[in-house]
Amino acid sequence: MTGGGDAPGLNAVLRAVVRTAERVYGAEVIGILDGFKGLLDGRFRHVGGPDVRELIRMGGTVLGTTNRDNPFACPGEDGPIDRSAECLENARKAGFDALIVIGGDGTLRIASDLGRQGLNVIGVPKTIDNDLASTDYTFGFWTAIDTATQALDRLRDTAESHHRVMILEVMGRHAGWIALHAGIAGAADVILIPEIPYDPHSVAMTVVRCQERGRASSLLVVAEGAMPRGGEMAVVAVDAITGVKRLGGAGERLARELEALTRCDVRVTVLGHLQRGGSPVAFDRILATRFGEAAVHVAMAGRFNRMIRLADGCIEDVDLDEAVREAKLVDPGGALLKSARALGIAFGDE
Ligand code: F6P
Repeated sequence: MTGGGDAPGLNAVLRAVVRTAERVYGAEVIGILDGFKGLLDGRFRHVGGPDVRELIRMGGTVLGTTNRDNPFACPGEDGPIDRSAECLENARKAGFDALIVIGGDGTLRIASDLGRQGLNVIGVPKTIDNDLASTDYTFGFWTAIDTATQALDRLRDTAESHHRVMILEVMGRHAGWIALHAGIAGAADVILIPEIPYDPHSVAMTVVRCQERGRASSLLVVAEGAMPRGGEMAVVAVDAITGVKRLGGAGERLARELEALTRCDVRVTVLGHLQRGGSPVAFDRILATRFGEAAVHVAMAGRFNRMIRLADGCIEDVDLDEAVREAKLVDPGGALLKSARALGIAFGDE
């Protein structure tokens, strides 16, 4: 089952699960369609070798996904209803021996709760945000960075030709990993992340300093969850079912602040879901493949309520409940940030 937002590499995990299950163990793989919604509705289909032949390079998820269907809190007339028992019943009726759930923190937390109720669950961590503390990397992350870096390279062309300030808004609601990595790879002048509230005057000073050094253009990367000191995240809507805030506008807000402070010509590009789709880069394909293979070995060994992770280059399994407890945020005093500062990149707190 795949759950939550899509990420490049989901199909590669599915391919590895099917190939390992069939080739090593002679086991059958059943795909659950559309995440927990499909588990609740009993929508399953056999997935075999021929179905996964082309999958390693495909973005999205052929199983479908959803980030709105939590079986513990389904919409009911008088408020949320707990329909988790139906998930267990459907899995029992279908004869599942193990359920491999590929998802981010939200999906894996639900999986862990289902595991506590008796489902034999194994979690595989995915998210372009790379914000799960228990694994070095989630797959999808490096593809997203590549996409954002290419966008920065293109924006630099326009920035330099037009002597403009170009802002790229990338995903990352609580964690600024994409902004930080893409900003370094794309040689940005400023990186703004949710972990470091910024001072608009400080950002304006950086832009002005770029101009004083004879460069009339600047490149800024802003995570969608970045906020000015004493301010709030930029929110466009709140999901009526999940209550999750949809973020947007951090880049535009910064543009208005900079225009007022510097009188520069500022333009904003919101990368949005372009970061989520597309063919996974080689690192993500390999990580997803290793995760998928390991998930099958763990399932066949009868170890449940575990999550597969990458730790110091090795693939391991750890307790699922513990694995999803902590988010991984950028450490403002960490090594990567220090390197970025040493290179002259500003974070709006100088
Ligand atoms: O979890 C990944 C993520 O890309 C976040 O960074 C972003 O805020 C969110 O998904 C957007 O999800 P959607 O628009 O699909 O609800």
